[in-house]
Amino acid sequence: MIADPEGVTAGACAQAIIAATMSQTQTLTHVYPIGSRLNDHGRLEVGGCDVIELAQRFGTPAYVVAEEDLRARARAFRGAFEAAGDSDYEVVFASKAFPATAVMRLFAQEGLGCDVASAGELHLALRAGFDPARLVLHGNARDDFEFSLALDRGVGLIVIDGFDDIERLARLLPAGARQRVLVRVTPGVRGETHDKISTGQANSKFGFGLGEAGEAIERVRAVAGLDLRGLHFHIGSNLLALEPFRDAIAAIAGLGDFPVYDLGGGLGVAYTADQEPPAIEDYVGELVAAVGELLGPGKRILIEPGRALVANGVVTLYRVVAVKQNVSRWVALDGGMSDNLRPMLYGARYEAQVADRFGGSTRVELAGKHCESGDVLISGAVLDDPCVGDVVVVPATGAYGHAMANNYNGVPRPPVIFCRDGEARVVVRRETLDDLHARDVEDRT
Ligand code: LLP
Repeated sequence: MIADPEGVTAGACAQAIIAATMSQTQTLTHVYPIGSRLNDHGRLEVGGCDVIELAQRFGTPAYVVAEEDLRARARAFRGAFEAAGDSDYEVVFASKAFPATAVMRLFAQEGLGCDVASAGELHLALRAGFDPARLVLHGNARDDFEFSLALDRGVGLIVIDGFDDIERLARLLPAGARQRVLVRVTPGVRGETHDKISTGQANSKFGFGLGEAGEAIERVRAVAGLDLRGLHFHIGSNLLALEPFRDAIAAIAGLGDFPVYDLGGGLGVAYTADQEPPAIEDYVGELVAAVGELLGPGKRILIEPGRALVANGVVTLYRVVAVKQNVSRWVALDGGMSDNLRPMLYGARYEAQVADRFGGSTRVELAGKHCESGDVLISGAVLDDPCVGDVVVVPATGAYGHAMANNYNGVPRPPVIFCRDGEARVVVRRETLDDLHARDVEDRT
């Protein structure tokens, strides 16, 4: 736990030296990237890089990725299957969580497959070097173009989400071709998470309900070019309990006996130090056990983690631009809902620190720079009296941060910086002001 240096309240930025001294006794929580620490100057280090120096060198806001953290989590997922005695599995990175080519390439190098949910993600995955045979194509509204691209590129598995997909694939499949598919089932299981990211309940826009799944399976089997390998479900995202996964496996057990089961993603993460998600080993162990017990031995299990691979390996750096006091103390940063929509969309809670003065006791509204009142990254954050020029760090921003970034208010999107062994490299550059009009078609008349 991060020690709260109580009593260190006076004198804003002048407290840096005291905080730096105190910081040597502080350790970081599991919310921060693996291998992060506070260095001798009391500054956060990620991947061996001092984040204050990163902020000076690359500007803010910036997504800072501890490359080794991402690799360690990929290995933890694979190792967990091996430890559970399962050798016929595939860990498929849900690229929607962090669709940057460098991140996808890293997971390709670590031997993962890749879940893509659009022509765009498919394009990026191929560019990142994934073997097309290890791609899984998802989506509830793939058009002819997306299916044709997938068929042409040799995507390993296409997940059938509705009856229209069966018709469309039957029509688009070249004569004599054979495509491996899964049927997505909505198992009628509701895990505890935000409504907007819950997908396993009966009334979902995804997949076939338990009542229709039998007919879907029959209709797929009737198409000569479709090779039905098994079933898929994804019950929701950021789940902090394992029971719903077992319930979902039990729910699909009556639909037949298949060689492949894709159990989706959904393992939750710690956004704040008080949250304790299941360990990767426990999650995988529970899935392997439940499949063995409820679906039978010898099944090939696929899982599709997104968040749990990338969330905690990344921090966002911001700079404080303005501070004002009315009913609250408002600390305005140089980013906000353009680089992290999650607080606004899902009421997601994050924590923050001044990057070179961890701890503190000043309660603030950590606000973004966008033109609406809802643009508050953290309400009631407790920091060491942030002042203009301070670098503020928000941990656990790797999942769906870069992915859902946008240009609201004409704000260029931040760079992605990989850090490893004290070396930093930009893998996605910051957008420029010119990028903002790069797609304009000039009217020359
Ligand atoms: N597989 C499928 C079919 C999915 O739809 C998803 C996520 C995943 C795997 C990965 O789930 P994860 O392991 O990341 O929970 N924008 C939201 C999350 C939306 C998730 C959509 N599907 C957020 O920021 O929380």
